[in-house]
Amino acid sequence: MTDLVTWAELGGSLAAIGGAAYVRHAHPAAYWSTVGLPVSVARLLASYSSTMDACGLTVEPSRWRALAVRATTRREVRPVPPRRGMIRPTSTGLRLRLRLAPGQEPADVAASAERLRHAWGVHAVYVRDVKPGVVELRLVGFDVLRKVRMPRRTDAGPLQVPVALREDATAFVRDYQAVPHELVLGATLSGKSMFLRNLLAGLAAQPVVLVGIDCKRGVELAPFAPRLSALATDPEQAAELLPVLVKEMEDRYDLIKARQGIAPGTPDEEITSDIWGLPEGERPAPIVLFVDEVAELFLVATRKEEERRDEMVTQLIRLAQLGRAAGIYLEVCGQRFGAELGKGATMLRAQLTGRVCHRVNDEASAKMALGDIAPEAVWAACAIAAELPGLAVVGDTSGGWSRIRTPYLSLADAAATCRDTAHLAPDVPALTPFHPYVPPVPVKDSGPVAAPETVTE
Ligand SMILES: Nc1ncnc2c1ncn2[C@@H]1O[C@H](COP(=O)(O)OP(=O)(O)O)[C@@H](O)[C@H]1O
Ligand SMILES: [Mg+2]
Repeated sequence: MTDLVTWAELGGSLAAIGGAAYVRHAHPAAYWSTVGLPVSVARLLASYSSTMDACGLTVEPSRWRALAVRATTRREVRPVPPRRGMIRPTSTGLRLRLRLAPGQEPADVAASAERLRHAWGVHAVYVRDVKPGVVELRLVGFDVLRKVRMPRRTDAGPLQVPVALREDATAFVRDYQAVPHELVLGATLSGKSMFLRNLLAGLAAQPVVLVGIDCKRGVELAPFAPRLSALATDPEQAAELLPVLVKEMEDRYDLIKARQGIAPGTPDEEITSDIWGLPEGERPAPIVLFVDEVAELFLVATRKEEERRDEMVTQLIRLAQLGRAAGIYLEVCGQRFGAELGKGATMLRAQLTGRVCHRVNDEASAKMALGDIAPEAVWAACAIAAELPGLAVVGDTSGGWSRIRTPYLSLADAAATCRDTAHLAPDVPALTPFHPYVPPVPVKDSGPVAAPETVTE
């Protein structure tokens, strides 16, 4: 009988362990909220001082404190860890603020991040500088990039799109006012078009003019036609569209100039050098130009095409150079973007401040995107596995970089968003000839209005 009970107990605990392991793998967020979080908090509270000591983050106590400890207790005077703020649990991890002791800097804590992660049994620890003397530890409970769920609350303003999730579980916000132009690089099937799709769906709900150049005959961007103000699906169409955009940019500069010269008595705050300073009624809507597979614009077969290519590249460079103040922004996507593309390629690349590098086939491609930003970012991009499409390394020219992944958004959902927001597309008369063809939406067969009655006589 006792044997039976023991076996039953053993079986029960094994099932519990197996169940926990399954939930941890299949539903990491649920596991974190129910098991991971309490365990990590308990570990953190129990081992805070000793862990900080082991990481070399403690300091000698002040003389007053040492005297007080000696006077009130008979314990030896021990080094003190940084003062800890309240523990704030989140759905993906927990946050904690530390007040640095004199002589410590955020880099000291960041250097111990890996040790802290092991001590407290979490997936990763990130350190953020909050204000002088205070850092925030962000503990992430599980790999949030494996199954991306965007944070529910993201405060995104105009021309800002929370487009992907960072590895520290915060949203990566594509902010066109801060970073006007961006280069999105990656091998084929690495998730570039998914990035564009997320971005486009996010911008669709804002009063922004969306323009696309997709030389893959429009297979990526044509489904968004209802919301696009212009779409070029081959290099010939692109060659017609780009000069129109350049002309639009020049017109906008004329508008700003006219405003500057209004009257000698114009108050200082009304003098502006970009469209954002114009009064709302006069301000033209910002334009975002998406270019998928940019190399297609550069490749030429004949001498005549070469002329056209040079013109297009010059126009793209001009848009990148002068577009920001006129509210024209570029989002350029490609597999490689090096000098081998020909004249003007490196110059255009240098204008694209934001860099997103998906999985690449060789280090040289990663260097094209991130080489001029940070060498570690290049290694991180080369280490992206093929099983995780959409994973990318994002850098900006300030030298910072992080790993991000876009949420999965099906083409049908993105297209539906574009159909629903079609009425939000601002009117730009110059772009009317480039309006893509929008096939009529088939009306669903709703059946006969009244059911036929059977006649019996
Ligand atoms: N974030 C993501 N999550 C899940 N699947 C993704 C993600 N990004 C891309 N994919 C999938 O990977 C494949 C390639 O993506 P795509 O964006 O077309 O790559 P590219 O444009 O670089 O060739 C598609 O089947 C897409 O569904
Ligand atoms: Mg693509």
